[in-house]
Amino acid sequence: MKNIKVLWSIIILLLVIVLGVGYQFVTGSVLTAKDGRTAIVLTKGERNFVLTEMRGLLSHMQQLISAAADKDIDRTIKIAKLLTEDSKGETQVSIIAKTPLAFKKLSTNIHTQFGELYADAVTKRDTDHSLKQVSIIMQNCIACHGAYQLVESDK
Ligand code: HEC
Repeated sequence: MKNIKVLWSIIILLLVIVLGVGYQFVTGSVLTAKDGRTAIVLTKGERNFVLTEMRGLLSHMQQLISAAADKDIDRTIKIAKLLTEDSKGETQVSIIAKTPLAFKKLSTNIHTQFGELYADAVTKRDTDHSLKQVSIIMQNCIACHGAYQLVESDK
């Protein structure tokens, strides 16, 4: 009898842990920002990491538009490849755990689209097609910035 009680206690404890992790995965660590957006709470280091990645993204997007506008497919391919590599930095587990599910989806979406941009540039070698893809990709930037803010935790 005693063993069964211990077993049940362990099962319930594990269940609570699994539900807790699942809940964290869906909601992340968030507050409502003063301007009504969702504020994701990160440490100073994590926030700086994400913002540095973001500035890199903006710079690479500008370089890509410039290369495609010049109809320079080799430069377009080179920068599209850099964009697929930029996104790899975001696989920081602690940051991902703090972002809500909808944010994770937007983030995964844009990474998939960077992959397609690069693959299409290599196979189609059409800078007009790449430019169109850039304009579609930028809808993710707009959607995410409209919905989320990053704030530093007190610690
Ligand atoms: C999944 C969400 C998401 C996507 C997609 C996204 N960003 Fe961001 N980005 C953010 C958040 C959140 C901030 C912080 C905004 C704030 O705190 O007001 C930010 C901030 C920035 C900043 C400001 C950096 C700084 O130093 O303050 C730039 C520039 C930026 N993003 C560029 C981009 C570009 C360009 C794209 C698309 C190619 C993009 N972002 C896509 C979430 C995203």
